[in-house]
Amino acid sequence: MTSPLRAQFIPVEIWPDDRGVHINAHGGGVLFHGGRYYWFGEHKIAGAAGNAAHVGVHAYSSTDLYNWKDEGIALAVSDDPGSDIVRECVIERPKVIFHPGSGRFIMWFHLEMKGQGYQAARVGVAVAEQPAGHYTFLHSFRPNAGYWPDNATAAQKAALADPAAMAALDTLKFNGGDNPEVPQLPVLARDFAGGQMARDMTLFVDDDGAAYHLCASEENSTLHISRLRDDFLATSGRYVRVFENRWHEAPAVCKHGGRYWMISSGCTGWAPNPARSAVADSIWGPWTELGNPAVGVNPQNGLGPEQTFGGQSTFLLPVQGQKDAFIALFDLWRPQDAIDGRHLWLPVRFTPDRITVEWRDRWDLRVFAGAM
Ligand code: GAL
Repeated sequence: MTSPLRAQFIPVEIWPDDRGVHINAHGGGVLFHGGRYYWFGEHKIAGAAGNAAHVGVHAYSSTDLYNWKDEGIALAVSDDPGSDIVRECVIERPKVIFHPGSGRFIMWFHLEMKGQGYQAARVGVAVAEQPAGHYTFLHSFRPNAGYWPDNATAAQKAALADPAAMAALDTLKFNGGDNPEVPQLPVLARDFAGGQMARDMTLFVDDDGAAYHLCASEENSTLHISRLRDDFLATSGRYVRVFENRWHEAPAVCKHGGRYWMISSGCTGWAPNPARSAVADSIWGPWTELGNPAVGVNPQNGLGPEQTFGGQSTFLLPVQGQKDAFIALFDLWRPQDAIDGRHLWLPVRFTPDRITVEWRDRWDLRVFAGAM
């Protein structure tokens, strides 16, 4: 059955695709190419089992952002037990960018190996000739193996040669969230040779064509921003540490008014927490934190800024043809029944010193012309 055309965003409600099925693209991102938007996200299945990847990355396309056509599975999990992306691995927060030099579409995602919890902390990369796929898995790795970040301190580097400092790491039991132990330990040095941890992530392509990977690293304590290689298939070795020991997750980035703006979350797993925002004159920083961008209350669950309406950021989407119009994409996770996770899209408003995202029960793109 074909769904009636939609002309509004209705945050958190079921969002039917062209077949009338709730859009199954969580932790997603959107690419605009050839006059169409392509939305990529985690395909979830029912129940708590749905938090692992049983199917892969789902793609949808649209010309108006309200009505989405099911383009099928862009990247499928593998049946080969030796594959990094074997069924029941974890594939999260897929993002796709276009590589003009090769004319190919490059997908990056956070990858956890089957049966290993969140310990692998890797990135996966897949490539396609067409925007909606099919994508071929290329490789997975931990970024920047053998490189120090530009802003590493002498003490951080010296830890590598200090057996006592490195031995202290053996006591580290990561609890999945904010904790006081990690900042005391030489986690950066520990991962120098094998590559830095990469969990929640996004990609960003700047006006000059340079692409960047932003991710929660160092046991989630500190964000890493890495320049991609010119072929966009790996990190280049040039990176910085930002928001040191601030436990930022779910980074989403855009460029507006010549500055870089970020919305992110704290580190509390699937449970919502207060959103964060920051601005910088260079992607490399320094980044200035601006506080919680959320305004208002979601009447469906009574949650306001203190829990980001029940959501967690995933992407900042530039609206084509409308100057300075951006949509903030959040997920309202339902970890007990992952497939029922909801999409929460809200318009972004900029003032010279702030980025805000105000709750709306329903809205449409005329909001950017000041009509709503
Ligand atoms: C969240 C993260 C999600 C997912 C989840 C697992 O903090 O943003 O992408 O990794 O933890 O608990």
